[in-house]
Amino acid sequence: MNYRHAFHAGNHADVLKHIVISRIITLLTQKDTPIAYLDTHAGIGLYDLQASEASRTGEWLEGIKPLFDTPNPPALITPYIDIIKALNISNTLRYYPGSPTIAKVLMRPQDHIILNEKHPEDSLVLKKNFKHDGNTTIHCQDGWLLPKAVLPTKEKRIVVLIDPPFEQENELELCVKSLTESIKRMRQAIVIIWYPIKDQKTLNHFYNSLKQSNAPKLLKAELMIKPTDNDLGLNGSGMIIANPPWKLESELLSLLPFLTNVLTEDTGKWQINWLIEEVSTVTKK
Ligand SMILES: C[S@@+](CC[C@H](N)C(=O)[O-])C[C@H]1O[C@@H](n2cnc3c(N)ncnc32)[C@H](O)[C@@H]1O
Repeated sequence: MNYRHAFHAGNHADVLKHIVISRIITLLTQKDTPIAYLDTHAGIGLYDLQASEASRTGEWLEGIKPLFDTPNPPALITPYIDIIKALNISNTLRYYPGSPTIAKVLMRPQDHIILNEKHPEDSLVLKKNFKHDGNTTIHCQDGWLLPKAVLPTKEKRIVVLIDPPFEQENELELCVKSLTESIKRMRQAIVIIWYPIKDQKTLNHFYNSLKQSNAPKLLKAELMIKPTDNDLGLNGSGMIIANPPWKLESELLSLLPFLTNVLTEDTGKWQINWLIEEVSTVTKK
């Protein structure tokens, strides 16, 4: 396990992922009934952008920094920006939240947060960061086993985030398996996969496997920072969302053009489409 998220915290991929998570949780918490949140690859929950790891790559300078500096961002991202503002009292950007913190701040006492991080050191830091939180359970095991170990939850509504490091070749395949397993156990589960965009051939195979997942609905949202199929590394990233809340598609249709403008130069592109659309049954009498 070589990957440490501290090197990448606050980059363009984190910005896309964390905005999508913040929108989903904000939409779900409009109803009183409790929700559960399962983060299978949680990281440490909070990052110092001035520490040596983030400083060495400087990825956040092309991610959260330009967004944080943008005057009057759309109201839809206020919940996300407010979390970052609350971590940076002096208004100078230094601390950046991981997905567990985004979930924690937006969720309520009646909700249940389940976090998992396999890296022994990162798992200890995660436990330290969340030790006073009564509605949070923390595991330190293989994230690919969590959907089977934890689902179904007693809360009928659940958000599952699958956000692996993509260090191994089979991780796209494992994402599809985890999504399929989650949907098998809780058909209504909102399952989110984050994935890197590098070459298109690999992704076409991934999309085709997802179409076999038996999910009721699958939405795909992508943000390309650089042209695909070049050797520059991470050209962009995408989110697969099974069973998205019904307003999410229209929200992303307004947010992605804005993010493309802020995070990319002329080379940026975005795309939203359905891999599986809900089949509506019309019965004639
Ligand atoms: C992309 S980072 C997660 C970032 C986090 N979800 C966020 O948005 O703030 C992936 C994390 O998965 C952890 N990891 C790697 N292999 C794992 C596995 N098999 N099970 C659980 N966690 C794993 C890494 O240590 C790393 O912290």
